[in-house]
Amino acid sequence: MLALSALAALPCLEDDLRRVERELFDAVEARDEFITEMVSHLIAAGGKRVRPGLCIAASLALDESAPAASESAVRGAASVELVHIGSLYHDDVIDGATTRRSVRSVNAQWGNLRAILSGDYLLGRASEIAASLGTEVASLVANTLTQLCEGQMLEIDSSYDPGRSEERYERAIEGKTAALLSTSCRIGAIVAGLPRPTIDALGEFGLSYGMAFQVVDDILDLVADESSLGKPAGNDISEGVYTLPVLRALADNSTGDELRSLLGGPVDDSARDRAAALVRASNGIEEAREVARKWSDRAQAALDKLPETPAALAMRSAAVHLAETAKLNH
Ligand code: IPE
Ligand code: IPE
Ligand code: MG
Ligand code: MG
Repeated sequence: MLALSALAALPCLEDDLRRVERELFDAVEARDEFITEMVSHLIAAGGKRVRPGLCIAASLALDESAPAASESAVRGAASVELVHIGSLYHDDVIDGATTRRSVRSVNAQWGNLRAILSGDYLLGRASEIAASLGTEVASLVANTLTQLCEGQMLEIDSSYDPGRSEERYERAIEGKTAALLSTSCRIGAIVAGLPRPTIDALGEFGLSYGMAFQVVDDILDLVADESSLGKPAGNDISEGVYTLPVLRALADNSTGDELRSLLGGPVDDSARDRAAALVRASNGIEEAREVARKWSDRAQAALDKLPETPAALAMRSAAVHLAETAKLNH
């Protein structure tokens, strides 16, 4: 699906990701079966594994042949996916979501208390693996967790606020999404022992790629169809999360006033559908696509400092593919 289909151009990735899967399931094997069931629920449900893919690709960024990722790159990849999954457990509690990765969310299945504790369990395991990779990796994961919380808190602080500024939107998505994608790349580069300027270039790539990734996700929430989203288009509006296309549609003279009259509080399905239709009719989608393209361009520019190895080329095409994904279903 999104993004990874392009990263899959890296020949060893499929095998490496299979090793990551084993690492993930090993990491969540608890003494009690019911704990194992809850903490492995979303691992078993799949997902695109974008963060492990980036970690592995980054670890091979200077490798001309890239036959297979190292054991530590596989562990780093598992660590960042566990951070991601742990944050999804918590996100679904925050958003009151009932489905995730096409299965029932953990909170819907077992309740909020267990979902929060299971999420914490996964973050604990992620930290343990990170610590086994050295203090720099451990500290990066810890800092990323802080940024994730900041991003989510900023988002909550702006909920149902039609006056949300783009600056606050950008800060929120940098914290909740881009920080972990950047860290995924950095960890791959660090465990591979790559030179500092290369680690920094890959970290920059991940950050810009992550910004584009979230903007594209926010566009798809409004333009994709319900079957591919697993939720109705405009779901972010129902949750009071006014994303970039909505903020641009509010600033658009032709749609701003009517849209503003619908936003600011909970909406029923028909008001949500009308608001989403207004955003689609405005310049908001095209302008958000332009912003996603800008971040994708920046991500690609960060790779200009690297040689054209198979992994670097795969990362570049993932960034190109991401900008193109924003055009789908519209
Ligand atoms: C979902 O992330 C949350 C966002 C940051 C948009 P992904 O789109 O990577 O979700 P999975 O891992 O494929 O389920
Ligand atoms: C995803 O955020 C969770 C994190 C990035 C921590 P959202 O609430 O925007 O994404 P979905 O739609 O639930 O995947
Ligand atoms: Mg959510
Ligand atoms: Mg959320």
